[in-house]
Amino acid sequence: MSIAQLTYEGKTIELPVITGTENEKAIDISNLRDATGLITLDLGYKNTGATKSAVTFLDGELGILRYRGYPIEQLAEKSDFLEVAYLLIYGELPTKAQYDDFTHQIKMHTLVNEDIKKILDGFPASAHPMGILSSLVCTLTAFYPESVANPTPDNTNLNIFRLLAKMPTFVGWAYKKSMGHPVNYPKNSYDYCQNFLHMMFALPVEDFNPDPIVVDALNKLLILHADHEQNCSASTVRMVGSSRASIFSSISAGINALWGPLHGGANQEVIEMLDEIREMGIRPLDYLEKVKRKEVRLMGFGHRVYKNFDPRAKIIKKACDQVLSKLGVKDPILDIAKELEEAALTDDYFVSRKLYPNVDFYSGIIYRALGIPTDMFTVMFALGRLPGWIAQWKELNASKEPIGRPRQVYTGATNREYVPIGQR
Ligand code: CMC
Repeated sequence: MSIAQLTYEGKTIELPVITGTENEKAIDISNLRDATGLITLDLGYKNTGATKSAVTFLDGELGILRYRGYPIEQLAEKSDFLEVAYLLIYGELPTKAQYDDFTHQIKMHTLVNEDIKKILDGFPASAHPMGILSSLVCTLTAFYPESVANPTPDNTNLNIFRLLAKMPTFVGWAYKKSMGHPVNYPKNSYDYCQNFLHMMFALPVEDFNPDPIVVDALNKLLILHADHEQNCSASTVRMVGSSRASIFSSISAGINALWGPLHGGANQEVIEMLDEIREMGIRPLDYLEKVKRKEVRLMGFGHRVYKNFDPRAKIIKKACDQVLSKLGVKDPILDIAKELEEAALTDDYFVSRKLYPNVDFYSGIIYRALGIPTDMFTVMFALGRLPGWIAQWKELNASKEPIGRPRQVYTGATNREYVPIGQR
């Protein structure tokens, strides 16, 4: 094991350097405060490894993303969403028997307690579906109290099936609520993605047949979103889980973290930005000037970790062209997006800051072609990210890591005397 040395006020201490399986190196500062009285400060955790994890590997410089060692390109091409979910959650690709059992277990839990529908009814039609989704997921603690009181491995596994099974129902119901349409019930003769499309788009007045092109595209998008190591929402899930909170409440917290426009909420903002450019007749180059003057951010661009390219964005851009042409959709905002990308990639502002299209830049254009409304985009991200959150929570729980409790550098007032209100 190699050692790093730190000298402070004439005293040198040695800190172990630990190495990951992909040769990533980290200075272990667990004993820093005891040895020196110092803590570290790292705003936004730009240099802080919060945990050890065996779920997902990514290399931002080389544009590599692997789930449990398998390259994202291979999984997106050859696998399906539930197989990837199994891989992330249990660590290995399933055998045929394991896959059949897993998908069967999920089908056995697609129905949602009717009382949850009453909770859904209490939301106004204008409610953002992310708020509905996080509330309904948290509500599961009330319907499955053993998730709080007795989270044995068997109970937890059952609750993992429940989460995966009921999420499409919640998403479909949140959408139906916004439309003022009656909700659908799951159809277990369908596979996961077909059933999801049925929950979203089937109407009591018409027959519904999921389009195989749409099913394929959906599988790909969900796989590409399924995990992304210690991002804001995964870290939230782990942080909440570290207090030994239930899997449902931890994942509900992750959904809320994902909602923000700098995280999963960016996919909605990208389409709103592209629509605005189209509606106002702004030239993409002029929009980029606004970005460079820092009046707006180019949504769907930039990433904390990827500083070369986002491998998911490459796959999605290609899929975007294919899906739109197969579905015969001509969306003018695709041309605007391509023009923005092309201009940004040769502009010094973006090049010098290593800003490239991220997963959200083209995903919304596909979602829109699939008929999914803009305010459901972040919900689609959550549906895809669910296996990753489950895997991160399960790993944290098995590791028995201590509760997450960062320190701070206090910058407030020093000790002062209380003054009664009449004398202030
Ligand atoms: N448009 C314009 N300038 C940008 C952008 C952008 N999208 N992203 C970063 N910058 C600039 C930023 O102004 C700063 O410039 P300067 O050095 O002059 O102050 C520099 O690049 C570094 O930015 P940062 O905010 O310190 O970088 P970060 O690593 O903290 O932020 C980010 C990463 C993803 C939050 C950011 O790039 C961003 O806001 N992007 C737009 C939102 C977005 O697309 N989010 C989705 C991320 S991928 C999916 C997900 O993880 O949810």
